[in-house]
Amino acid sequence: MEAIILVGGFGTRLRPLTYTVPKPLLPLANIPMVERMVRNLPPIFDTAILAVNYGLEEMEKYFENKNIGKKIIIVPEEEPLGTGGAMRNCIEHVTGTVAVFNGDVVSSINLEEMLEQHIKENAKGTLALWEVDDPSRFGVVELKGNKIMQFQEKPEKGTEVSNLINAGTYLLELEILEMIPPNQKISIERDIYPKIAGNRLYGFPFEGYFIDSGTPESYLEANFKSLGKDGTASHSGASIRGNCLIDKNVKLIDCIIGPNAIIGPGVKLEKCVIRNSVILSEVEGYGCVIENSIIGPKILLKEDKKQALIAPEGEITF
Ligand code: GDD
Ligand code: MG
Repeated sequence: MEAIILVGGFGTRLRPLTYTVPKPLLPLANIPMVERMVRNLPPIFDTAILAVNYGLEEMEKYFENKNIGKKIIIVPEEEPLGTGGAMRNCIEHVTGTVAVFNGDVVSSINLEEMLEQHIKENAKGTLALWEVDDPSRFGVVELKGNKIMQFQEKPEKGTEVSNLINAGTYLLELEILEMIPPNQKISIERDIYPKIAGNRLYGFPFEGYFIDSGTPESYLEANFKSLGKDGTASHSGASIRGNCLIDKNVKLIDCIIGPNAIIGPGVKLEKCVIRNSVILSEVEGYGCVIENSIIGPKILLKEDKKQALIAPEGEITF
């Protein structure tokens, strides 16, 4: 069975980080977002199809010699085709029911249970659903039993039909991909779902967590959720507070790490305090307190940072 991962978009809200690393290759707990998604696929999936536009070269290079237990097919788009156009563009690699993921979502969805419901209902499409207080930034559905009766993409505040949002994970029959006109910019959320709502389109509400990791704050949150409970217990050069992850290729001298800190490979820190932050690869620092920040890669840190978002080109505050 195949899974399509939509990894387009410029990652604008994570600039300047995404000037040098395309968003899907930004790490979550030291593993690139897209690789993590592929690794999390249940065994029934043998193939991951990556629908890519921005960052194609980096993605091809990253997966070139990587064996992560699934076949990886990279399908490029010359121009961004939108969410619907991008999945239509992958159709030649799809053999039947397909799972589709928004590449920026980190969630606790149980895909096997979702597939069970999809088959039981004989659905054309099943959408994972999540409940939120303010649904206006998302796709919103009206659900009757398990059936999706209406789909609204980013409705105006006050006009939302419910608090249940599209969580960006779908199971679709081939006939839905076939409905999408080829080589055109099509949004599955604006152009397709509203039309087929009420016609064998089902919802699968789930609980646990759901994070759209596109902003600095949500990227940090997604990192700590991805870390789970298996962090680094101790380090000879640091006192560790709470659940943290320190790559094995990290040199620390006299540091306080955590709570909530993730330190990437090649990092060297001396007399630093790191709290609620992600330090990307090859950062070096001396005598700084870093809080609520995403730092790196390859940055030389010489002063304290609070709420900073830093990439090699410069230093920008959010
Ligand atoms: N290949 C490709 N080509 N991928 C694309 C394109 C494209 O032209 N446009 C968007 N994508 C990818 C993005 O990279 C992302 O992984 C996913 O499709 C969704 O696009 P976003 O731009 O992140 O959309 P959103 O977050 O505003 O809204 C979507 O996600 C919400 C849940 O987080 C919608 O699906 C909403 O309905 C949903 O509630
Ligand atoms: Mg998104």
